[in-house]
Amino acid sequence: MKLDGIEDRLLGALRKAALEACKLSYSPYSHFRVGCSILTNDDVIFTGANVENASYSNCICAERSAVIQVLMAGYRSGWKCMVVCGDSKEECVSPCGVCRQFINEFVVKDFPIVMLNSTGSRSKVMTIGELLPMAFGPSHLA
Ligand code: THU
Repeated sequence: MKLDGIEDRLLGALRKAALEACKLSYSPYSHFRVGCSILTNDDVIFTGANVENASYSNCICAERSAVIQVLMAGYRSGWKCMVVCGDSKEECVSPCGVCRQFINEFVVKDFPIVMLNSTGSRSKVMTIGELLPMAFGPSHLA
């Protein structure tokens, strides 16, 4: 797995950032908090959380809110890793289908995504290529 090149110190900080971001979730309707963090090519960490809305369909997931933070800081490619954590003690949260497609737009196939439970005591790592096989992406329109 591609976590090999990432220092433990940074991975620890990335996990902590996702767990902290989870606390900032605005999720009064589902009561399901999700946090996300992304490590850039130059080891800067950005975060996001899910933000819901009284008009239910108008909500954004933690992963997409984090991706937008990274993009707006000027980082378009070369991201090293993403961590996602959700409000379940038992299960590691995995990105929804829309988020998989959204993430895929900006990363390489072996981009690693670390999925955590709510305490960080459980984790699972998969690449975006594994989570979204045969993805439709920018290369199809080139
Ligand atoms: N959610 C995320 O933030 N990320 C995912 O990948 C799965 C779902 C959010 C959306 C909604 O605010 C809440 O979790 C329940 O679906």
